[in-house]
Amino acid sequence: MKSTKTISSAQRKSLLSLARKVMKHAYAPYSHFRVGAALLTAKGEIFTGCNVENSSYGMTNCAERTAIFSAVAKSGPGLVIRAIAVANDHGVPCSPCGACRQVIYEFGPDATVFFQDKKGPAEAHITELLPEGFRLK
Ligand code: THU
Repeated sequence: MKSTKTISSAQRKSLLSLARKVMKHAYAPYSHFRVGAALLTAKGEIFTGCNVENSSYGMTNCAERTAIFSAVAKSGPGLVIRAIAVANDHGVPCSPCGACRQVIYEFGPDATVFFQDKKGPAEAHITELLPEGFRLK
């Protein structure tokens, strides 16, 4: 499935480059797996985030959710995600986890997700990654 609004190759490259840059800020002393995410909003703003781990492993926040929560904190609750890119420092396949897919869907039901899959750079519509995402409204 394709998003109703296409993301240019310049925008994709810029998002991936920003994701790689912010990845260096990751707090990942337990997994040593640094992840960065950069998102583009419907207003054309860009926000980034990295993973932040915790001694209590379950409290870890993934890069995607850090970027999304930062976007809401900086720009308000009207956030609409057009695209989000994810990068990791191991150069291995890394698509958003289930929890992040649901959070991306909340703000971006038509979002395009850029990530690395088994074959290399990949692109998917959020509903391909999360069919039947949950919505209260
Ligand atoms: N992680 C992310 O930040 N995003 C993903 O898409 C996959 C996993 C983080 C969580 C944890 O800090 C580390 O990667 C290893 O799971």
